[in-house]
Amino acid sequence: MATPVYKAPRGLRDVLPEQLGAWRWLESTAHDLARRFGYRELRPPLLEDTELFTRSVGEVTDIVEKEMFTVRKAEHSFSLRPEGTAGAVRAYLEAGYAKTAPFQKLYYLGPMFRYEKPQRGRERQFTQFGVECIGSLDPRLDAESIALAVSFFRELGLDGLEARLNSMGDGADRDAYREAVRAHIEPNLSEYSEDSQRRFERNVLRILDSKDPRDIELNEGAPKLLDHLSPENRAHFDRVVALLEEIGVSAVVDPSIVRGLDYYTRTVFEVHAPSIGARSALCGGGRYDHLVEQLGGPDLGAVGFAIGFSGTFAALEDAGLLAGRSEPPADCFVASADDSTHDAAFAVASELRAGGVAALFDPEARRLKNQLKMASKTGCPYVVVVGSAELEQGVVQVKDMARNEQTSVPRGELVAHLRSGLEGAASVAGRT
Ligand code: HAM
Repeated sequence: MATPVYKAPRGLRDVLPEQLGAWRWLESTAHDLARRFGYRELRPPLLEDTELFTRSVGEVTDIVEKEMFTVRKAEHSFSLRPEGTAGAVRAYLEAGYAKTAPFQKLYYLGPMFRYEKPQRGRERQFTQFGVECIGSLDPRLDAESIALAVSFFRELGLDGLEARLNSMGDGADRDAYREAVRAHIEPNLSEYSEDSQRRFERNVLRILDSKDPRDIELNEGAPKLLDHLSPENRAHFDRVVALLEEIGVSAVVDPSIVRGLDYYTRTVFEVHAPSIGARSALCGGGRYDHLVEQLGGPDLGAVGFAIGFSGTFAALEDAGLLAGRSEPPADCFVASADDSTHDAAFAVASELRAGGVAALFDPEARRLKNQLKMASKTGCPYVVVVGSAELEQGVVQVKDMARNEQTSVPRGELVAHLRSGLEGAASVAGRT
């Protein structure tokens, strides 16, 4: 029987070493920006009780109805996290922050899982950088959140993105809006998709977020929540818009943004890269002022967002910004001049590693000429050649590949010699 060829499941993929330089770039940009905006990193588990997502994301949503990877063990049902907000709020409450230090700015970076149709920028395992600011209703935090999301893309050099903003209202204005949407949809309900017909009674606002082309067309002309906002929620929204203007962040008001998760209240926003196509949102977020209470805590305001890396990579690729983002090579390649010095070269590589220098050697023990070819392919800035005559004199040859210069260096000084050369090169690179 032929051995089967195994592949990663559809919509899941490996990040290969060749791609890791670009990943680290996004990750370090995220960590650095989060720190600048006062966020601390949270690392919750990937698996949570299924009910946590049902309660927070909403029972009648695509994520909960169709997209969760759920496992059952004994009496329990667990799901791989499809998003990070629910877990962050659960962790916030479990850590006791609601009592000890209710204002918290937390961020996370890691894989999420949704059983979606894989397409460009959409995968079944994808990475999100998410931030959650819990414990305040202050509109400055809404503006700050949007500014942080926009800064992330700006730091990566992505222009031409669009931040879009809306308000979902809250309480009475949301109830009134729901009724207005119902009245708009009802006459044509039978023409809507099956999902939307089913959701009409239980969660009519989800119909506005339907991806079905028929529904999208029918939804045209639906009432806008911005026209139904209470004076208090209108004032909050206007403050967010004014604050964004004050700090020079451009965001367009887009009443069609309703988000696909149930926990949102008041401000909602997305950042889009129109070049990617239909599913162009690279970031989505907003306020969720009642989620902490809904999960068993006090009634506290909260706002946050998550940026998806899959879409961000697609936008970076379209903009030609991924070239030259590979990981740096090792610091040096240790070659043996002849057959008698293979073990000595191995020992020199070990000494270098112990001294903090990244060193490679040729495990195939090829001829020197071939080792040097291999060294130049790796792109190491230094090659150390270990020869038997030099070894007897306690020295090795060091070749600086950029300068094409060769020097004889006492073995005991090799680590210091390479380190000072590498530090010099790093400071030159830092200045240019
Ligand atoms: P979301 O809009 O569902 O919001 O996801 C945020 C971002 O994650 C999307 O804009 C998209 O870039 C990315 N994303 C979502 N699904 C996929 C997928 N299948 N493949 C690739 N990327 C994907 C949330 O998840 C909320 N928890 C955001 C939030 C945080 N709101 C408040 N705090």
